[in-house]
Amino acid sequence: MCGIFGYYNYRVSRDRRAILEYLFTGLRRLEYRGYDSAGISFDSDPVQPLNGTSFSENGTVEHKFVVVHNGIITNYKALKDFLIKRGEVFISDTDTEVIPKLCNYVYKSTQEKLSFNELVLEVISKLEGAYGLLFKSAYFPGELVACKRGSPLLLGIKEAEALRPLQSSPMRRPNPGDSFEAFIASDASAFVEHTKQMIVLEDNDLLHLARGTYAIYNVSKDESGAAYGSVSRALSTLDMEVNSIMKGGYDHYMQKEINEQPDSVLQTMRGRVKFDREPKAMDPSWDPYHEKRITLGGLVDRISTIRSGRRVMFVACGTSYHACLACRQTMEELAELPVSLELASDLLDRRAPIFRDDMCVFVSQSGETADTLKALEYAKERGALCIGVTNTVGSAIARSTHCGVHINAGCEIGVASTKAYTSQMVALTMMALALSEDSIRLRPKRNGIIDALGVLPDQIREVLKLDAEMLSLAEQLKEEQSLLVFGRGYNYATALEAALKVKEVALMHSEGILAGEMKHGPLALVDELLPIIVIATKDRMYQKMLSVVQQLLARGARLIILCNSGDSEMEEVCATGGGRLIRVPETVECLQPIINIVPLQLLSYHLTVLRGFNVDQPRNLAKSVTVS
Ligand code: F6R
Repeated sequence: MCGIFGYYNYRVSRDRRAILEYLFTGLRRLEYRGYDSAGISFDSDPVQPLNGTSFSENGTVEHKFVVVHNGIITNYKALKDFLIKRGEVFISDTDTEVIPKLCNYVYKSTQEKLSFNELVLEVISKLEGAYGLLFKSAYFPGELVACKRGSPLLLGIKEAEALRPLQSSPMRRPNPGDSFEAFIASDASAFVEHTKQMIVLEDNDLLHLARGTYAIYNVSKDESGAAYGSVSRALSTLDMEVNSIMKGGYDHYMQKEINEQPDSVLQTMRGRVKFDREPKAMDPSWDPYHEKRITLGGLVDRISTIRSGRRVMFVACGTSYHACLACRQTMEELAELPVSLELASDLLDRRAPIFRDDMCVFVSQSGETADTLKALEYAKERGALCIGVTNTVGSAIARSTHCGVHINAGCEIGVASTKAYTSQMVALTMMALALSEDSIRLRPKRNGIIDALGVLPDQIREVLKLDAEMLSLAEQLKEEQSLLVFGRGYNYATALEAALKVKEVALMHSEGILAGEMKHGPLALVDELLPIIVIATKDRMYQKMLSVVQQLLARGARLIILCNSGDSEMEEVCATGGGRLIRVPETVECLQPIINIVPLQLLSYHLTVLRGFNVDQPRNLAKSVTVS
């Protein structure tokens, strides 16, 4: 698991069953983040109310210290050697085990003089890597310490009124009769049904819960060593409903999230796109074109800076990278800036040059992906303006960037990203539109795109009706070993994304191929058996794609062609040459990838179910890749 959850209460009467229920539900809610294994621990005292702490795969129980860990300790080998030499005995190969052993060692070597948070501070000062950590100890009954660096950690608080004294003091003073429940979790879905009041812990924060009080400290390091001081962190209200993390009548989250797309893209646009064309009565200055606008609250102050930048650089991983690829041309054509694309890990491997006048856009559904986050730090160090496009409010990427756009797609639980992908494309298109607002020459094009955004949710609704057809196609393809997907121009990204969906959930080999590269190798694979999807909707590449279809059919290829409804030319080619058609509604070319991916998401979903694989938790994958 890549999620941890802890529960703490003070003067709240909860029986053991209720606490276990809290812990199990919390862990279940975090399961989507990663799901290899899990563990649980709680302490009870016949006099005190029960306090509970759960721990994930990396949890290690010792007699005296319990540590819950999400992340990776990169220097664990050196620490382990050090501790073994000092008599500590290890029972596992995990990196996490060094932490409780280190606690034990520090406790003994300081003659038991340290308080619990001082002890934890000493321990974490020796750790390298990324972590969200919870600590419990038999030496410090009734206390819980949590801290984080790199991995996310949120504090949910049940009794909001009990927090008021926090304004003046970092330590909440217990009043007789105050009840207090705290939930510490890797993400808010673990406690949304208990409370919506939460604090997002920052890197190097240390949270100390004891006897009904809590305090947050931040550890800062300078040449003279580590110092820590108390800090106030803003209490925010969680904008999430329990329903949003339920399957709501669907069999799988992925299926639900594919079907949510008419609504999720609408949410991405809500309050940001002005579609009006209505003239204000008798207003001679009314300009029908100017009524259409995009307002991105998080970027308004930065638009002119971005426009005067040297280039736009998109940085992302996986599906988020594909969203950037799909929108690169839109950005080039509307913002009229050079646009470069970087896979975060590759950017870091190459230590590619980034300059102060670069505008770096970090796209991430989770806002936590380790490589994207590291690339963000790398770009920040070089003085670039860093813009975040994320789906998770309060996530590390959302907080570390200078400005940004939330895609507002709603909680995405299926490991395979679907609705976040389409919302990312909408958000990036809106960004390109906002950057081109001053161009009179581009107005007709901009207005066409804004009009098309207005009908996009209905068009997605329309394309979702292909579900039964995609099921029947999946029936035909379910025994196949491999599936190729050809695309070009705006839809090269669609080909890559469709192939990624098929391989990650249906566990079928699939490759997205730039159709322009067909003759440079892939053509050798073509025969009558290998299924090939060709994306040939109406855009500037249409004639070229038609020619690809003809050349493939001439070689007897087994084609599935994704084209626009009413494309008589393609109908005719297929009627004579063979090939199965998937017909989708037509939109402006830069939004067509949003429509085109939907049937292919449905296809990968049905393939997965028919092949008997786990849809929402594909083998070996985690939703949040917090370790690179
Ligand atoms: C594929 C998928 C992954 C993610 C990638 C980046 O369906 O979900 O490829 O897109 O791990 O994740 P985020 O967008 O959270 O940075």
